[in-house]
Amino acid sequence: MKVTVVGAGAVGASCAEYIAMKDFAAEVCLLDIKEGFAEGKAMDLMQTASLNGFDTQIVGSTNDYSKTANSDVAVITSGIPRKPGMTREELIGTNANIVKTVVEQLVAHSPNVIIIVVSNPMDTMTYLVHKATDIPKHRIIGMGGALDSARFKYRLAEALECPISDVDGMVIGAHSDTGMVPLTRLASRNGVPVTQFLSEDQLASVEQETRVGGATLTKLLGTSAWYAPGAAVSGLVQAIACDQKKMFPCSLYLEGEYGLNDICFGVPALIGRNGVEEIVEIELSDDEKAKFNAAADKVRDTNGALSL
Ligand code: 2OP
Repeated sequence: MKVTVVGAGAVGASCAEYIAMKDFAAEVCLLDIKEGFAEGKAMDLMQTASLNGFDTQIVGSTNDYSKTANSDVAVITSGIPRKPGMTREELIGTNANIVKTVVEQLVAHSPNVIIIVVSNPMDTMTYLVHKATDIPKHRIIGMGGALDSARFKYRLAEALECPISDVDGMVIGAHSDTGMVPLTRLASRNGVPVTQFLSEDQLASVEQETRVGGATLTKLLGTSAWYAPGAAVSGLVQAIACDQKKMFPCSLYLEGEYGLNDICFGVPALIGRNGVEEIVEIELSDDEKAKFNAAADKVRDTNGALSL
């Protein structure tokens, strides 16, 4: 398994590190446009190999896409991160051109590649990849829900005062500060509905803290988060590499599922060697449907800003 990670910034380097440490990939190619930057990060990471016990080869490249040739999976993290107070949507002008150029180069060297989009605004960048390439929809995955669900579980465990390993839950909808739909109705503490332990006010607070999880960290860090985004992507890559058919909420191109068409939006799916193996349709409550559809309308508006 060969994985390319485009963008050797904090998210890309964290993603490369977690992939290497899980040791399921033969090679990770870390690429950046900044002279020597990816090579330096790759070398630094390789010098942890004997300490962290992995054999994955991490190689760096300064904008030489021939080094990415024959990648099975390519993760796109390139583009500018948001600053405190910014929305992800404000990045579209800069990041759209970057993502389009990157994906064209990737496909030229790896025609069968599965693309995972991280760059923000992620739902719209994922839609851009669909429109800018002929890659079949099952090989284009937007990573947002996996990260948002991790933050959701963090907040639920905090409210429940229990180990995170006891908590399960999923966030669907948009990867945006207002468009996420945390499915508190289906969340559980070791199989027991969390609604049995938490009040409506507590659940509302968990949902809101989940929605602004990225913005909360950007305010603290002065830039976007990287550990959890990198870890969330590495989970998707592992599901592909190991053909796990593992369920993740991902931003996927919809053609009627959940009543939506011509949009990339966060829905549950089984992820395996082919990328998207199956989109899982679940019955949503009226309240969940209303939030889901309102968020989809906002993503569609953002998509309208793309010059396709
Ligand atoms: C986040 O939510 C970077 O969008 C990513 O942290």
